[in-house]
Amino acid sequence: MNAAVRAVTRTAIGAGLKVVGIKGGYAGIFKKEFINFDVSSVGNIIQRGGTILLSSRCPEFHKKEHRKKAALILRKEKIDALVCIGGDGTFKGAMALEKENNIPVIGIPGTIDNDISATDYTIGFDTCIQTAVEAVDKIRDTAFSHERIFIVEVMGRRSPEIALHVAVCTGAENVIFDPKKVNYPKIVSDIHRGIKRGKKSSIIISCEGDRAGHSYKIRKTLLEKFKVDAKVCILGHIQRGGSPTARDRYMASQMGNLAVKCLLAGKYSLVTVYQKGQITVTPMKNCQTTKDILDIKRFEIIKDLSI
Ligand code: F6P
Repeated sequence: MNAAVRAVTRTAIGAGLKVVGIKGGYAGIFKKEFINFDVSSVGNIIQRGGTILLSSRCPEFHKKEHRKKAALILRKEKIDALVCIGGDGTFKGAMALEKENNIPVIGIPGTIDNDISATDYTIGFDTCIQTAVEAVDKIRDTAFSHERIFIVEVMGRRSPEIALHVAVCTGAENVIFDPKKVNYPKIVSDIHRGIKRGKKSSIIISCEGDRAGHSYKIRKTLLEKFKVDAKVCILGHIQRGGSPTARDRYMASQMGNLAVKCLLAGKYSLVTVYQKGQITVTPMKNCQTTKDILDIKRFEIIKDLSI
């Protein structure tokens, strides 16, 4: 996100605009946490994880009267347009703010989940995958040397995208996309098939689902019903931090730059997106849901590669 904040700030200042950073997203508007940015405010941040602007959830923004209040504060601060970095919830709030109060908005998709409709990429995803892959590689060393089975739980809430990528990139033997719909007989028969050909370790990547920790229940069922003993490792928030990868910095820089260019050209109600290998824009209304990623065909690769 810092690379996007930097790109927005530098492009806008370069074009003669004033830039105000709002701390903590929409919540920062109500708290009047405005910071006047100059060129050096965003120096030395491109390599830093997280966001210097901080991030928070803002339930008030679901309510029309609160959005009206936010618009009044923004006008008072002489803020003419907003660049919002976030997911579908951020964009829903931005669209409503614009429609009801005539404040131009433009969005940049930022979530490790890579699940926003109409874009093939959301910033943070590559860094998350890289971190998780490095962690699983380390777990693989113990799995191999100590001849163990591991269930490694990754983030992704409603989206199995992280699980799919991590499973492919770590050569996982199995993947669970929904912790509430586990195909135990298949997992167990895959483990036994591996054992028959001399394999003594196995990695199962599990998507966290609606909350973290389901892997402990999966472990219990495997042990009690199938006599399969597995260790659990929940990767958790390490996946959302750390220095961003080159891909993330590049994507975020391009999206931030394009967002400001659109505003300068009088174009708004848009989100910068990655489609067919290009950074472009799409109407914000297209980015207000999560995409249908449970296209099961895409997941057959795990079965094909872990024979
Ligand atoms: O939406 C991004 C995400 O990182 C999910 O993958 C994860 O489940 C969730 O946020 C964690 O949110 P929190 O830090 O609020 O628990």
